[in-house]
Amino acid sequence: MNLKDYIASIPDYPTKGVIFRDISPLMEDGKAYREATNQIVDYAKEKKIDMIVGPEARGFIIGCPVAYELGIGFAPARKKGKLPRETVEVDYALEYGHATLTIHKDAIKPGQRVLICDDLLATGGTIAATIELVEKLGGIVVGCAFLVELADLKGRDKIKGYDILALMEF
Ligand code: PRP
Ligand code: ADE
Repeated sequence: MNLKDYIASIPDYPTKGVIFRDISPLMEDGKAYREATNQIVDYAKEKKIDMIVGPEARGFIIGCPVAYELGIGFAPARKKGKLPRETVEVDYALEYGHATLTIHKDAIKPGQRVLICDDLLATGGTIAATIELVEKLGGIVVGCAFLVELADLKGRDKIKGYDILALMEF
């Protein structure tokens, strides 16, 4: 199975010049979704992970089945204003905008080993912000797993020194 066959490419969405890489065909195909999840689970098994963190919203789609399969917890990193209890927060820039990401203060315990999961690595703003949130809580980021990496945007350069898994490159 070639997972790339399940990614749709939409030119000029959401703004002119951006090619949007849409993972929804992959999610809508049970075999492809399971294959992608299993590949991340295999990567995670080597790393003795305590918690998965996923940034809103597509990070939930990737991170939750991985956490379920490993039998560990999942903590959401959400856009500002969505989490009801005390949070820490980080501002960041996106390929097409700005946002603030937050996480509950008690979501990660100091010393816990964390894998961050998201659908896509573009400029790296989201993953860098998520790493910062986890580290503010004393967590250890042992890996960052994505379905898709947009290599031209050089997101990797923003998170030098962290271990990265990307199942597909565009
Ligand atoms: C998208 C995507 C990644 C991020 C990647 O999320 O799901 O999280 O952008 O871009 P970056 O590497 O340039 O930060 P978005 O903020 O659009 O939110 P969504 O998942 O709620 O659609
Ligand atoms: N998030 C940031 N850039 C993106 C892109 N080109 N396609 C899908 N999601 C994205």
